[in-house]
Amino acid sequence: MSPRDHGLVLAIESSCDETAAAVLEGRQILSNVVASQAELHTPYGGVVPEVAARHHLTTINAVIDRALSDADRSLDDVRAVAVTQRPGLIGALLVGVATAKALAWSRELPLIPVDHLRGHIHATWLEPIALDPPYVSLIASGGHTRLDRVGADGSVHLLGETLDDAAGEAIDKGARMLGLGYPGGAALDALARDGDRDAFSFPVGLTGRSTLDFSFAGVKTALLYLLRDLGEPGDRLADIAASYQEAVVQPLAGRLLRAAEVEEARAISIGGGVAANSRLRELVSEGAAAGGIEVAIPPISLCTDNAAMIGAAACFADRVPWPEYLAQDAMATAPPGGVAT
Ligand code: KG4
Ligand code: ZN
Repeated sequence: MSPRDHGLVLAIESSCDETAAAVLEGRQILSNVVASQAELHTPYGGVVPEVAARHHLTTINAVIDRALSDADRSLDDVRAVAVTQRPGLIGALLVGVATAKALAWSRELPLIPVDHLRGHIHATWLEPIALDPPYVSLIASGGHTRLDRVGADGSVHLLGETLDDAAGEAIDKGARMLGLGYPGGAALDALARDGDRDAFSFPVGLTGRSTLDFSFAGVKTALLYLLRDLGEPGDRLADIAASYQEAVVQPLAGRLLRAAEVEEARAISIGGGVAANSRLRELVSEGAAAGGIEVAIPPISLCTDNAAMIGAAACFADRVPWPEYLAQDAMATAPPGGVAT
């Protein structure tokens, strides 16, 4: 399937702790509004599903209004409503899906239900990156870590995935152990810049195996034991952060580049919140340059959860005509194979 022209699309995302809406015309982003709840969940050290759902409910209408006004458009201009249908926190997803259905129904517009992971995968299709498939995609976020071959038609074929924790989970748990708060990805990234990444040796999961899968459970445990043995990290904190971060991002970059080789890909892309990481960006850029591969690294605003990426995925998905989608529901889980077609 080549990208569909749905006209002006209003896209909505609420699968976790970001309430987001965007207005797009094809691969052109007219607005991309994200209201993050991260601070609300900080005291708990993780996202509290019920808190997330209730907050989406109070925020979503204002976020949609803002997306329309930033784009200088009104609901009258919208031709289709795209929404994240799965996977995610069910209460959080329900707010987005119910809102999207209500808006679309009231204007007799089609609905485009989208898989959140496809959003991350297709984010690079948008301006300013505008990468056309085929390519090999790495998605690393708080909930997912996977490598896919993206076909010229936008189809997605799993090449490898984490066998235990997601990379973002390892980053967040590590950052928390280092006293950097939650979610600690950006803080870990900043601290690691002042550290020596060779100072400590952390185990890299599945090293030495010719696999495109990942494992991050061991590196987390290794950090726990290191901090216990060291007692007070003191002035070694930046070195520990840099070494720990390296053990998480090295396999991400390494297996992405290996997948590109195996698949004889001419282009690669990265996405998901962990793709905001400066060291991962550096490793992927250097590796791609060395291999003569085109590399698509989206701006950070398109890596972390946002609704523009849902609008991008919608261009590779079918519209459900009015009013057939009234029976459509949110789904917490991914389908077999990891992404909905
Ligand atoms: O894609 P995302 O916004 O939400 C999910 O779908 O999970 O990803 C969030 C993850 C968190 O684990 C966060 O700590 C991580 O992305 N993250 C980073 C950076 N910025 C965000 N990890 C490493 N370095 C960063 N600069
Ligand atoms: Zn995400």
